[in-house]
Amino acid sequence: MSTDELIVSTPTARYPVVVAPGALAELPARLRDLEMRGALWLVSDTNVQRHYGAALERSLEQAGFAVRSHAVPGHEGSKDLATLSQLYDWMIGGGVERRDCVLALGGGVVGDLAGFAAASVLRGVAVVQLPTTLQAMVDAAVGGKTGVNHPLGKNLIGAFHQPRLVLADTDTLATLPPRELRAGWAEVVKHGVIRDAALFELLEAFVAAGQPAAQLPDVIRRGVAVKVRVVSNDEREDGERIILNYGHTLGHALESVAGYGALLHGEAVAIGMHAAARIALRLGLFSADDVERQRRLLAAFGLQTAFPAGVDSGALLAVALRDKKVQARRVRWVLPTHIGGVVVRDDVPPELVEAVIASEA
Ligand SMILES: NC(=O)c1ccc[n+]([C@@H]2O[C@H](COP(=O)([O-])OP(=O)(O)OC[C@H]3O[C@@H](n4cnc5c(N)ncnc54)[C@H](O)[C@@H]3O)[C@@H](O)[C@H]2O)c1
Ligand SMILES: [Zn+2]
Repeated sequence: MSTDELIVSTPTARYPVVVAPGALAELPARLRDLEMRGALWLVSDTNVQRHYGAALERSLEQAGFAVRSHAVPGHEGSKDLATLSQLYDWMIGGGVERRDCVLALGGGVVGDLAGFAAASVLRGVAVVQLPTTLQAMVDAAVGGKTGVNHPLGKNLIGAFHQPRLVLADTDTLATLPPRELRAGWAEVVKHGVIRDAALFELLEAFVAAGQPAAQLPDVIRRGVAVKVRVVSNDEREDGERIILNYGHTLGHALESVAGYGALLHGEAVAIGMHAAARIALRLGLFSADDVERQRRLLAAFGLQTAFPAGVDSGALLAVALRDKKVQARRVRWVLPTHIGGVVVRDDVPPELVEAVIASEA
């Protein structure tokens, strides 16, 4: 086992998460280790396929695998029932069998869509996640949540379906649009704040050094490790996994009020984290110094922390109150107590939240 490997271990699954430059070259050997003998159904999006699809397909074929490939448009709109249905047509029409394996090569859109196709076709075939965005590497590809959007809301249809392997090739980030990369850092900062002060310090040193490419794999692996630990402790999201929602209550609300696509998910989460930190400050949970430290790190990654001008705090709050993670009509706020630790509070007065949204700093 290489030092590059992390292990997710839950009551239903155990699988390696590899984060390394050039990791995709290991895929044929890794699939053989997993004793994958069936056909491989390679799903990507058109942007990712253009850069990495053909080479990956060739290397798998040279290793003796039968590969079919399919690319969906590279945007959130592909995470819908119509595109899912096209995947079913392609797989069932092509004679998919239970022993086959889906390869999800792309960002979170491809991971969620292909993951759910794998979870549901023939009542479930294996899936391997091959994330190519920072967001998918540190978040979406790990943990087994899969699904598609419904016209009435995001991620409303889906299943838990753990992958057999996650292989994150950090070299693929070289072609990722810079704005997507920046947005991905929000989730890495989040992992530092909720669970890992040493990761937070590593990120501070990484930006101070000008984000050297050579450090990227290690920094990302440390970020992924937090998700691996949290998911291993709480597979089905009825306990500790809620801490991953830090910054997401207002982040999700902002995404939907701003209109999906106006803000990238990570951009909204950065604003949500800064707001959550300020809520924690007002409740006497978190220090002004730590609010500023988090703000500075997010800013160093090029992330805004202020709410967009003219945002309607009432509308935002109303959406937040409808969030999926609300229990018995109370929002469960994940709030930091220090860099590296959070608490969950369901007694935050809505007026306090509104005041934070309305205030500048
Ligand atoms: N399952 C989970 O636990 C989980 C967690 C967080 C987010 N998500 C989901 O993830 C989705 C967002 O994923 P995302 O942020 O990765 O966005 P994405 O999948 O839309 O990818 C962003 C853009 O980058 C392009 N791209 C991807 N990799 C590239 C590369 N290496 N080079 C060039 N272009 C590349 C894509 O084509 C797309 O245009 C959302 O639907 C969200 O709900 C799921
Ligand atoms: Zn997120």
